[in-house]
Amino acid sequence: MYIELNDKELEFFKKIGMAATQLQLPVFLIGGFVRDKIIGRATKDADIVCLGDGIALAHAVAKQFKPKPNVAYFKNFGTAQIKLSDGFEIEFVGARKESYRANSRKPEVMPGTLEDDQNRRDFTINALAISLNEADFGRLIDPFNGEEHIAQRIIKTPLAPSETFSDDPLRMMRAIRFATQLQFTIADETFTAIQQNAERIKIVSQERITDELNKIMLSARPSIGLDLLSRSGLLQIIFPQMMALHGAEYVEGKGHKDNFYHTLQVIDNIARHTNDLWMRWAALLHDIGKPATKRFEEGHGFTFHGHEVVGERMVPKIFNRLKLPLNEKMRFVQKLVALHLRPISLTRENITDSAIRRLLFDAGEDIEALMMLCEADITSKNKQKVVRYLQNFEMVRERMKEVEEKDHLRNWQPPISGELIMETFGLGPSKQVGIIKDAIREAILDGVIENTYESAYTFMLQKAGELNLQPI
Ligand code: CTP
Repeated sequence: MYIELNDKELEFFKKIGMAATQLQLPVFLIGGFVRDKIIGRATKDADIVCLGDGIALAHAVAKQFKPKPNVAYFKNFGTAQIKLSDGFEIEFVGARKESYRANSRKPEVMPGTLEDDQNRRDFTINALAISLNEADFGRLIDPFNGEEHIAQRIIKTPLAPSETFSDDPLRMMRAIRFATQLQFTIADETFTAIQQNAERIKIVSQERITDELNKIMLSARPSIGLDLLSRSGLLQIIFPQMMALHGAEYVEGKGHKDNFYHTLQVIDNIARHTNDLWMRWAALLHDIGKPATKRFEEGHGFTFHGHEVVGERMVPKIFNRLKLPLNEKMRFVQKLVALHLRPISLTRENITDSAIRRLLFDAGEDIEALMMLCEADITSKNKQKVVRYLQNFEMVRERMKEVEEKDHLRNWQPPISGELIMETFGLGPSKQVGIIKDAIREAILDGVIENTYESAYTFMLQKAGELNLQPI
């Protein structure tokens, strides 16, 4: 056997081999499972290809188990799936080949040989097959040197790359995704073909594109994929706002850093600390408002005033276009983009409690996430500077702890509710209720009164008096 299987997998594949013998169908394990086993990467599902009816084979395999697992099958696609109790999923399909008729772009899918099936796969490392037939169980069938390419860490198409990519342009994104996940290199001719065919990505659904983009974002070093997307021309098509971050400019000896590569570094920094997809999106988008706000100020240099506000407004448009969820995940990303400069502003000297209180109030339960983003945002090459910035943030954290212990502002709830204001002064829902509520909140945040019911009640009476309101 070329790959190491656990007892369960071995038992399962033997059963597949036996069922196939009974049906007289040659059968093979193929694709990502073989690749990942050779690499030594965790595998979750396996693809089985047979020379014949995949659905019939799945049913015959299911019969070998007690209790008999359910077979989900899709007649139109000729595929079937068995899910085992421990989450292991096996997909069955008959080997096929595709032929293109001159008058149609849609391929005709027909039964084929194993070789036909391997030909139409995306990359040589994904086209490896292992025989599950009794006669040669465990034999590796590797017509395109996939095993060697795994050892050399290369991603390459089995056929001429333009042919493989025009069959399914999503494969251009997949090449970059695998290069990122596995930290492999894309072969030169394959990468050139991506550059030449990049426009074809437009015919692929946004959901499939975003799925690949998210897999890149969830990798150990997302910068690898984002840089490849940029250099291939794909990023300009799928996410032009990010391409706009490119470029460092110098005027009158004053320059600014390249925000594209800075952003990539911030994402990689975040990726070392969290697997949360939305933290990673926040890192990706934290400076997205910079190109639109860039100005050159005479004698001063480049500024990006308000880029956090512009960025915050861009987030929903980007999420909408990429078909990312328009829900609390998006609002979390927006909040982090909006607030990402605030902790830095608190590293100056003589910061009042009130400024700290306001940040705790505005960030709420996301304060830790915000601090993590700010620390990841430090990309200076000067080690001493990095140490100093980190120490400054440590001081901000200390101050936040002190203020928090005193004022309990995290997940702050107004000590006086709108209902109580209405009851006390005999008011209906009105502007005045809002004015009093806001005044109480501001007084607490400014440290004018304590964050307690009693202080807030007294303050409410005083504020109402200014508005000529009397308790009833
Ligand atoms: N495949 C392909 N072209 C695609 C998608 C898939 O040729 N556009 C083939 C590849 O041989 C691949 C197999 O189908 O190995 C299974 O696809 P999929 O489950 O999407 O990918 P995996 O390689 O298993 O990897 P992962 O689970 O990480 O996506």
